[in-house]
Amino acid sequence: MSTPPAGKLALPELTAKKRRGEKIVMVTAYDAPGARFAEDAGIDVLLVGDTAAMVVLGHESTTVPVTVDEMLLLTRTVARAAQRPIVVGDMPFGSYQVSDEDAIRNAVRFVKEAGADVVKLEGAGPSVSRARAIVAAGIPVMGHIGLTPQSATMLGGFKTQGKTAERALELVNEALELERAGCFSLVLEAVPSAVATRISELLEIPTFGIGAGGGCDGQVLVYHDLLGLTEGHLPRFVKRYANLSGEIKQALGDYAEEVRSGAFPDEEHSYSMDKEELAEFETALESRTPIRE
Ligand code: KIV
Repeated sequence: MSTPPAGKLALPELTAKKRRGEKIVMVTAYDAPGARFAEDAGIDVLLVGDTAAMVVLGHESTTVPVTVDEMLLLTRTVARAAQRPIVVGDMPFGSYQVSDEDAIRNAVRFVKEAGADVVKLEGAGPSVSRARAIVAAGIPVMGHIGLTPQSATMLGGFKTQGKTAERALELVNEALELERAGCFSLVLEAVPSAVATRISELLEIPTFGIGAGGGCDGQVLVYHDLLGLTEGHLPRFVKRYANLSGEIKQALGDYAEEVRSGAFPDEEHSYSMDKEELAEFETALESRTPIRE
């Protein structure tokens, strides 16, 4: 890949942060205001996650239906708005499962058409070969293991992964394979803290935990979850830092009430005109020839 634009956080800086023991912060982003807020708050990495399917596109409880074109639109929007943070385009289900060639073709679209700095894909097994192929094509890849929502059905639902010694060892092997394939970082989702900590120690590349405890090199949360925009059940690992859905509903309710009562718009929120111009207008209006009799 070419040199990042001035002001953009460089990828090797993430590994340097890991070495220095500095935590790295990632949050999901799906639109321009969200991307700007996150940048202003000093977030390092913006993940245009396929959680978009649920949190912005209205799909009930799965990330599977979101398409490449939908993800490209969201990624392009975030990339346009964010200057410093690294922008990760999340490859949706179906965009890398078929073959290495198909995976490269779609990853290239994320970079060329949407301005993503890097792409993310889920799983190990065939995804290791996909990651290697995309990296060889010059596009940095973030891996994602543990609970991988695109294959939640195969994993028996949205369940914590790596709770047995055998499965925990599998996760270690998957992490090492993805690192060897050239991934520059790894998301560990819904994994016991002890397992995620050991994986993070074994890898040279940074890990981002989501439901994986404090031993990871960085953390990621879904924007809507941490801001309290998501309603209904949330996983145990989500911490809400605000209750914006409550504030938004209150504000919308106040607006509706004021429109209905006539309290809005008041003079402060309306435009006026010169008295003379108004008088002339009224006179002209009264003496005008009616257009229709
Ligand atoms: O799609 C997404 O938002 C993700 C995060 C939950 C890691 O993959």
